[in-house]
Amino acid sequence: MANPFTLGVASGEPLPDGIILWTRLTGVPNRPVEVRWQLAADERFTTIVRQGTARALPEWAHSVHVRVAGLQAGAEYFYRFRFGSHVSTAGRTRTAPDPASVAPVRFALANCQRYEHGLYTAYRHLAAERPDVVFHVGDYVYEARQAADPVRRLDRTGEARTLADYRARYARYKADPDLQAAHAAAPWVPTWDDHEVADNYRGRGDGSAAFLRRRAAAYQAYYEHLPLRVRPEGGGLRMYRRRTYGLVADFMLLDVRQYRDAGSMLGAEQEQWLLSRLASSPVRWKVLVQPLFFARRFVPGPPPNLRPDSWDGQPAERARILGAAPGLVVLSGDVHNHWACELKADFLDPHSPPIGAEFVCSAVSSRPPETDADAVLGANPHIRFFDAHRGYLSGTAGPSGFRVSHKGLDASGARTVAEFITDGKGIIRVDV
Ligand SMILES: [Fe+2]
Repeated sequence: MANPFTLGVASGEPLPDGIILWTRLTGVPNRPVEVRWQLAADERFTTIVRQGTARALPEWAHSVHVRVAGLQAGAEYFYRFRFGSHVSTAGRTRTAPDPASVAPVRFALANCQRYEHGLYTAYRHLAAERPDVVFHVGDYVYEARQAADPVRRLDRTGEARTLADYRARYARYKADPDLQAAHAAAPWVPTWDDHEVADNYRGRGDGSAAFLRRRAAAYQAYYEHLPLRVRPEGGGLRMYRRRTYGLVADFMLLDVRQYRDAGSMLGAEQEQWLLSRLASSPVRWKVLVQPLFFARRFVPGPPPNLRPDSWDGQPAERARILGAAPGLVVLSGDVHNHWACELKADFLDPHSPPIGAEFVCSAVSSRPPETDADAVLGANPHIRFFDAHRGYLSGTAGPSGFRVSHKGLDASGARTVAEFITDGKGIIRVDV
């Protein structure tokens, strides 16, 4: 039998005492099979901490999500899987620290990885950093049919609509060695945007049974290919959640698609959850991890000058969030360029003081739109930085400061194109 571990391994959803281990077997018979797993304290697997057997079921595309508990907080572990005589590559992972910890957390963030648009070189560099945790803010796959002028080709080129289509799309993307390396380097905590289902979809779409079937299929395939802690139920999948790193960083992952309608980005339940955590969290940095441009962004030229698909479509909801958490940090993406912004209670008042910071991550591979960056920077004084390189974010949150590097790719590799610190008010660019 051929190697069944062609899609790599992953870990995710770190808690102080637990982690999820993931793989998906390919080329196995269409029935339940058993796969063995091991978690070790060292890279050579001389000290095995836990081991066991997991069932991989055909109805979940032979994916496994092993829930390991009872681990040490803030500790590094290594894991691998075995099926028959085949052993997977080994992954590195790390639990979240103790709730009282004040140790800094090193994180990375990526998004927008359209396969035909380019190679995943950004992930090779991200993997080499071995961060404590990796966030992904959406467009992990693109449902659309193969783009014109592909740098590399999909195997199934049509638009994904069925469970089989979405599974095939993930399988193509996840065969990439650099993406596999990024998963094997650190635990991931992902959230999604629109292209995991359909371009710019909102909530229940047109409400038709056909759309809800399609959405359920897309959510199922997403679950099958990522190291999530919860599985889909009744056509939905709970994605909004927090992952807390001691007393230092409270990362709040948002779902800006599933509950959305014309009047709300998050839906009432998710907004209530967010506002109440923002108001009560004892943690130094409250960090929104979500896809969409959060600061006001007026684009001069023909209307619409404010993009309705971003937070500019829900300014009242945005104001409620900003009002609940002075010193908020927002990590976002979606627009395929790097930007850095100061957040304000009143974006239109030049004397309104900055009350937070936003770092917008460029794409791993997706092509950028035509952007007149000078015009946007000129029209929005609170937007302070633009860069057009593909790349990712690399950051450190500590008890006293929050630092973010915008990483850009060029012929020589990945370099810091700009680095900022925030003290919870504005942003300060630092020399690197
Ligand atoms: Fe994208």
